[in-house]
Amino acid sequence: MSRLIVVSNRVADVSKAVQSGGLAVALADALRERRGLWFGWDGTVVSDETPIGLTISQSEQVRTATVPLNQRDYDEYYVGFSNNILWPSFHYRLDLGHIDAKSIDGYRRVNQRFAQSLAALLEPDDIIWVHDYHFIPLAAELRALGVRQRIGFFLHIPFPPPDIFLAVPERQWLARSLFSYDVVGFQTAVDTSNFIRYVTEHADGEEKGENSITAFGATTKVQAFPIGIDVDAFYAMSHTPKADEQIQRLYRRSMASSQVIGVDRLDYSKGLPDRLRAFRRLLELYPENRKMVTLMQISPPTREDVAAYSDIRQELEGLSGAINGEYSDFDWTPVRYIHRAVPRDTLAALFRGSQVGLVTPLRDGMNLVAKEYIAAQDEEDPGVLVLSRFAGAAEELAEALLVNPYDTDEVAQALQRALTMKKDERSERYDALIKRVRKHDVKNWRESFLNELRDSRHPTSPETA
Ligand code: G6P
Repeated sequence: MSRLIVVSNRVADVSKAVQSGGLAVALADALRERRGLWFGWDGTVVSDETPIGLTISQSEQVRTATVPLNQRDYDEYYVGFSNNILWPSFHYRLDLGHIDAKSIDGYRRVNQRFAQSLAALLEPDDIIWVHDYHFIPLAAELRALGVRQRIGFFLHIPFPPPDIFLAVPERQWLARSLFSYDVVGFQTAVDTSNFIRYVTEHADGEEKGENSITAFGATTKVQAFPIGIDVDAFYAMSHTPKADEQIQRLYRRSMASSQVIGVDRLDYSKGLPDRLRAFRRLLELYPENRKMVTLMQISPPTREDVAAYSDIRQELEGLSGAINGEYSDFDWTPVRYIHRAVPRDTLAALFRGSQVGLVTPLRDGMNLVAKEYIAAQDEEDPGVLVLSRFAGAAEELAEALLVNPYDTDEVAQALQRALTMKKDERSERYDALIKRVRKHDVKNWRESFLNELRDSRHPTSPETA
């Protein structure tokens, strides 16, 4: 079996995959089975004068190869192009993008350097799987170094419609770079069609059938592979004696009999201020919920060196303070806001102990919290998922209460409906949702992508500009 090489900006310890969540859960088994190597940033930033060395370590037959970023690379590649340009614009927020030439150079430079370090580690039969927006040009850089192995790319965030992508600096270079991959995967059918539309409308691309598309003198496979979770592992984590105890404690300590839960990095794409406003609207429109319902919002800090993130913490603290000031009583606090990371097993228990999962991003690639909330429920008495139409997960999870996250009245009404929903309807919706979460689970995602990559032809190199 070919060795699997995974490349992503963040590299996790596979021996702690269950606690880490995300890509570590998704890829741990495949890396173990295929003598894998995981390559990426070690998460540290060193001074510009420090020479960049590769660190190789081994855990459970999986090797990791990591490098630090120097300050300039961190500022230009990570903060700059990746998170000040690509992240906001791919989440349809051109207003938050900061275009600057240095960032673009930094992004190219780091991709070139990563390609050089990785090329030196490759064996002829390897299959390479590159993840996310940090590394769009990586395959082109590897090809320029003579790498002929199969390379796949998966974008974990949305791909915007052509009118938005047209405003991204170096868009044509980014689009052309994707044609150096053998397979390009997106989260949803909408993302896939946005990319195909851009390539056919703005780059003379042509669809060739069987998900193949030709442009820039090259052909690649383009397809949606909706990412999922390990359903059984998450269910098991939410159904332990410790979880039972945590759920009991949750209600012993509070007057409220129902809890709405939200868990998201403190990112502007997650719609957190609108979510809090919708909860306030619930208390205004349906006063019977006062003293009866609590919103627990867990939002760990993230990307604090990116300017667009610095205001959101203040906004959220202001809003939760205002709602609590207005509605709290000596025995009830409406909003419990936690600005820290919470261990995954505690999250699993909290999902199970909450009557409503409130997942209302303004735009999201997939959103695995929605799937985790469903996976954690008791089959006999499941809770209700209120889900933004603009999360990738909404394409599959049609039996959730789908809402427009910008419309606080609509979200408040959906919350009220969820909180008062009869058990028959809850069960019916849950049965349909859990089937879908199981069908598109993490194993299915991984294996369908890797099968497609294994069966793909080598691409021709895109024409140089
Ligand atoms: C999203 C991205 C990931 C990223 C994660 C955390 O899920 O798709 O690529 O790793 O956010 O963000 P950070 O900037 O801390 O890596």
